[in-house]
Amino acid sequence: MLAIVKQAEAVMVTTLPRGPRGHFLLGSGPDFARDQLGFYAACAREYGDVVPVRFGPRRGLLLYHPDAIEEVLVTRNRDFIKSPGVRLLSRLLGNGLLLSEGGTWLRQRRLLQPAFHRQRVAAYGEVMTSLTVRRLADWRDGDVLDVHAEMMTLTQAIVAKTLFDADVSDESYAIAEASNVLVEDFGKRLGSLIQLLPDWVPTPANLRTRRAIRRLDEVVYRMIAARRRNDEDRGDLLSILLHAQDADDGSRMSARQVRDEVMTLFLAGHETTAVALSWTWYLLSQHPEVDARLADELRSVLGDRPPAVADLPKLTYTEMIVNESMRLYPPAYGIAREAVNPGEVAGYPIAPGLIVIMPTWVVHRDRRWFDEPEVFRPERWADGLAGRLPRFAYFPFGGGPRQCIGNAFALMEATLVLAAIAQRFRLTLEPGQRVTPTPYLSLRPEPGLRMSLARR
Ligand code: HEM
Repeated sequence: MLAIVKQAEAVMVTTLPRGPRGHFLLGSGPDFARDQLGFYAACAREYGDVVPVRFGPRRGLLLYHPDAIEEVLVTRNRDFIKSPGVRLLSRLLGNGLLLSEGGTWLRQRRLLQPAFHRQRVAAYGEVMTSLTVRRLADWRDGDVLDVHAEMMTLTQAIVAKTLFDADVSDESYAIAEASNVLVEDFGKRLGSLIQLLPDWVPTPANLRTRRAIRRLDEVVYRMIAARRRNDEDRGDLLSILLHAQDADDGSRMSARQVRDEVMTLFLAGHETTAVALSWTWYLLSQHPEVDARLADELRSVLGDRPPAVADLPKLTYTEMIVNESMRLYPPAYGIAREAVNPGEVAGYPIAPGLIVIMPTWVVHRDRRWFDEPEVFRPERWADGLAGRLPRFAYFPFGGGPRQCIGNAFALMEATLVLAAIAQRFRLTLEPGQRVTPTPYLSLRPEPGLRMSLARR
């Protein structure tokens, strides 16, 4: 029997933990593929905080205790690299910030960081609100929309304008279509774990994926070329990248690296935030009392004007709603690593090649840290709950050196977009819809979110 004891900051395993036996050949691969979230939850329930698993020939370890997660993401982060699961994205994202490692990663992170400094991010606030208000001009009382698709289009426009000063509105349909192909392909390949055929074999699925990547490449290269043509330094992220490409001091960045960073930021910068907003609309429509309190706050803080960055400190309930929504439906539903050095985590021996998975989805619903964990209750975040929790009981943006670079950007964006929309409209889920959290690249609401709009 596994016993984890929380002593001061230490996690101690007193006996070696047990895990599911699974299929004799495939291990837990089939259970994982059938229902990834259910598999994570069942393992925690049955085996505790540290659960050894096997996927085919690969050994894995599931970690559910905040202190053990901290060991992997912070204390011993040098003993781990990104997991083979997330590396499935390398065809699309290349060596951009999400997937690069070691010296390349550190150099690129330092280079890009200034575009995400607090003051810089505050300057993006106006664009976030004005693009939202512009989108709302097409919304009519009584309309029924796929709100998830709307959130994707909006967050795409926001990331393109703020980081690359580009307008992608004419391409939003093509981007959505290509992204859907890639996200589904990623989900399928993650589920199958063992690759039967390599990427270059021209199966219909591989050809479809290749076409989708080409389509997104066109968008990215067009943004880069447009900036090159008028050649002015706007001090935004694209200027930083192009300036580094032109550097003659030995730190020159290749055109391919510029492409990889733009693609990474474009995709990582809109999919997750759109998902966070979508789940927030879903939860609000299921909890009219929360929706009413939100409307009150917006009325009293903003009156009739759209939200601005200066209003954020007063939009406390709005922010609690965003936090609570990401607790129940964390867009990054799990974080994974591969061990590259031998060692120990939570007293469990780690060998190179071991896959460590930290399922945010389960940790965020742990009753040791959250009372009535399944209940959507934004008020729980009042009175400084965040400060009282173990650091990795709530980690929607990960942690340690690889923590999300867009953390402050995303929180500000989600809060402003939520405020600007909820101020004007109440969104209600169309009857008869079953919305399922589906783990692709992020935790998408499937099959989308058909909601009706009522003007407030
Ligand atoms: C609600 C929205 C978001 C969530 C939940 C989220 C979540 C995360 C998480 C959990 C990681 C760490 C992954 C790991 O440790 O393996 C990450 C990394 C990253 N995110 Fe986000 N993210 C969000 C929004 C954004 C935005 C808006 C941007 C950019 C504009 C962005 C860009 C990135 C990048 C580039 C990385 C890799 C950072 C590195 O490794 O140095 N994310 N994100």
